[in-house]
Amino acid sequence: MVAAAMNSPDHDKLPGHVAIVMDGNGRWARQRGLPRTEGHRRGIQAVRKVVAGCARRNIARLTLFAFSTENWSRPKAEISTLFKLFAAGIRDNLKEMGENGVQVKFVGQLDRFGAELGVQMRRMEEETAANSSLLLTVALNYSGRWDIVNAVQRLAASGCDCTQVTEQLFERELAVPPADLVIRTSGEMRLSNFLLWQSAYAELHFCPSLWPDFAEDDLDAALADYAGRERRYGGIGTAALPEQEQACG
Ligand code: FPP
Repeated sequence: MVAAAMNSPDHDKLPGHVAIVMDGNGRWARQRGLPRTEGHRRGIQAVRKVVAGCARRNIARLTLFAFSTENWSRPKAEISTLFKLFAAGIRDNLKEMGENGVQVKFVGQLDRFGAELGVQMRRMEEETAANSSLLLTVALNYSGRWDIVNAVQRLAASGCDCTQVTEQLFERELAVPPADLVIRTSGEMRLSNFLLWQSAYAELHFCPSLWPDFAEDDLDAALADYAGRERRYGGIGTAALPEQEQACG
């Protein structure tokens, strides 16, 4: 484990699954008088750093919200640049993903991205399939509501008797498993249709940095915040129990 992780207050309390809403690319660019697309370009560099940082900190799973089903309402030129950046991001980072032991998966309604990007996504998935340090899931044309409806459709298509569905069975059909820590950058405090089911008991961390500025320090601050939380899952927590009951478990 790297020094940065050793410095965090409790490195035994690492989240298994970190998910990030990478917000603020546009504002980052505007503050500098640059086109929004320059913010996205710098956003890709932040992705590289965070992926490597999570791999070094022994985080098992990282899910990034790269394009939501609502993002189609953006200007066509911005969407087209974003797609070019996704393609370049895949092409330029394949080798580094391998070196960092990162397995990459894409989730969402991927059929709307065109054949060329589709081929690149599949290639990246195939070429990183044997890596096992960090599972990076990139959510593209994804929304939490879509994920839930898609899971229902998958269950129905499998011939399952939907009157017998349990939470566990349902969860298996989702594109992404529950998250432990959800980070959103740029100071906005909402989920914006990201992992709705999966955030039920996630710890939420809101960070003022705009995504292109998100650095290892911000990641460590989020991990330290998480380590200091008590996850009670609706219970009362160990601190509230009398000493004798705590000893009995
Ligand atoms: C939100 O900022 C950011 C996006 C909609 C795009 C995020 C995508 C990347 C950083 C590239 C990721 C690529 C890969 C391959 C993982 P915004 O444009 O909403 O910013 P604003 O709220 O300041 O306008």
